[in-house]
Amino acid sequence: MCGIVGYIGARSAPDVVMGGLKKLEYRGYDSAGVAVLKNGRFSIRRNSGKLHYLEETLRERPLSGHIAIGHTRWATHGAPTEANAHPHMSMNGRIVVVHNGIVENFIPLRDELQAEGVVFQSDTDTEVIVQLVERYVEAGEGLETAVRYTIAQLKGASAIVVVSRDNPNVMYCARLGNAGGIAIGLGEDEIFLASDIPAILEYTRDMIFLENRQMARLERDGCHVTDLEGVPMAVETHRIAWDPVSAAKGEYKHFMQKEIFDQPRAIIDTIGGRVDFENGTVSLPEMNLTPELVGNIKKLIIIACGTSYYSGLVGKVMIESIARLPTEVVYASEFRYADPIVDEETAVLTITQSGETADTLAAAELAKSRGATMWTIVNALGSQSMRLSHGHISMHAGPEIGVASTKAFTTSLVDQYMLACVLGQMRGTVTPEQGRELVAGLAQLPDLVGQALEQDEAYAALASRFYKTENFLYLGRGANYPVAREGALKLKEISYIHAEGYPAGEMKHGPIALIDETMPVFAVVTQDHLYDKMISQVRQAKARGGVVIAVATAGDEVIGGEVDYVVTVPLAPPLLAPVVNVIPMQLFAYHVAVRRGADVDQPRNLAKSVTVE
Ligand code: F6R
Repeated sequence: MCGIVGYIGARSAPDVVMGGLKKLEYRGYDSAGVAVLKNGRFSIRRNSGKLHYLEETLRERPLSGHIAIGHTRWATHGAPTEANAHPHMSMNGRIVVVHNGIVENFIPLRDELQAEGVVFQSDTDTEVIVQLVERYVEAGEGLETAVRYTIAQLKGASAIVVVSRDNPNVMYCARLGNAGGIAIGLGEDEIFLASDIPAILEYTRDMIFLENRQMARLERDGCHVTDLEGVPMAVETHRIAWDPVSAAKGEYKHFMQKEIFDQPRAIIDTIGGRVDFENGTVSLPEMNLTPELVGNIKKLIIIACGTSYYSGLVGKVMIESIARLPTEVVYASEFRYADPIVDEETAVLTITQSGETADTLAAAELAKSRGATMWTIVNALGSQSMRLSHGHISMHAGPEIGVASTKAFTTSLVDQYMLACVLGQMRGTVTPEQGRELVAGLAQLPDLVGQALEQDEAYAALASRFYKTENFLYLGRGANYPVAREGALKLKEISYIHAEGYPAGEMKHGPIALIDETMPVFAVVTQDHLYDKMISQVRQAKARGGVVIAVATAGDEVIGGEVDYVVTVPLAPPLLAPVVNVIPMQLFAYHVAVRRGADVDQPRNLAKSVTVE
């Protein structure tokens, strides 16, 4: 995850930026940089490694000035070297850019610019942005238009900050999709910008949060927000409370809501540095995989609890389909008291946000004692689960404070998809062509999740219709069956509404008896090879007087005639669709809980980390 800070005003701009970056270092720590504009020239300092290397550089070669931008990086494209560190400067030194996110189409854009003679100085996707802005400025466009034209060419989720030496008192920033936010801090004759408010909270409490597809021109005396076509937008200034909890929630009412909206950013960070989009390969060095080890493994057992268990159910579909490795998924609390068939040819993958769940750890110890190769997907680095394992994949979700798990679910799905790709590469089940197709799906994912989040109002409206309902049935098939179970769990735990998640094909074997007008059905009916089957199951529910809400693919013209309510999600590659399709479940549960006046972040009887049996 990357962090951005910017400043224009009377203070020492590099000091403000460096102070802010320190508060954002948790977001990325493989390289950092700062650029200052003074007397019509940019001076840039960049370093690979943690921020203190950049601090040392600045002590040796200090910078001064009143307009600066800085960045801490978590690599997505290109190794964490100094050349790949931000800020990036255009070929003629006119424009400087920092960026969070992924430019999905950077390869064709870079090829086009290279054909025009642009010489690239880094391996990053970001550099196409700075070179494009310069190309438009050189063609005679004003900076604002050049930024707008550039953004129009970018695919994917990005947050961008641009400064030009020709416009020394101005900074432009833009948000495209949900690659992390941009908070603009308003001061007295000074202005701040950061990816997260703690970076600038010591200077101002008055913040504007840029929405998706908005752009802002920042000057010392204020900011002017437009849409991407340049139409002025009215924006609200939020007064942020000083206490650390409110400050950490920022513009959101609850941590769960913040964490739901943080998912595109979290997914970008999870992918970061692990995927080679050009060659179609994934690398997971912390897994310590060798050809001998992988060649020796005959089956995989995924062990987890709760939401992490449902994540494992999706992971099974991914791993079996991509890597063709037989996989079972077992509740940790069951595994630990079974007499499981585990030996040296078994790999066991635990999935755990906290890394401290007692049942998961006990199950892992049992599997390890029987000779299994132990892997874990974990959010809390340094936790016991990591210490028990031979290899790990970090979720990179960032702190998850709401008790109901959201971003740990989606990031662990992405981790399992990447694991499936690596195992597929090593087991020879994935051709280079298929590899490129698989990772291209990953590049789109943050943006697709961002698009699903944009439907927030539709979920809020649905919640206002159903918040008094006491029973729900959630249905899905294939990779979306676990999504149905996760949807039901979210509703149960934060709204205290009884909900069951079922594989839709099983409905006729019992649960159909429950269906009447008082028990609505929430069905995932997105476009995939099981679409027709889902439609026929929806019809069965309708025939029994059921009220059906469908999560459908945007543009589906049939579904409206089949069900009572439709919420849409963008079309995603089938194995990654659960990452997108769970968003409506999360937001629906959230809005229902809010409507019912429930304690969203700390639901009754639950704990974030279940360290007891
Ligand atoms: C549900 C939830 C729990 C956890 C479960 C496992 O929203 O958060 O079901 O998923 O307690 O926790 P971890 O992943 O920390 O092992």
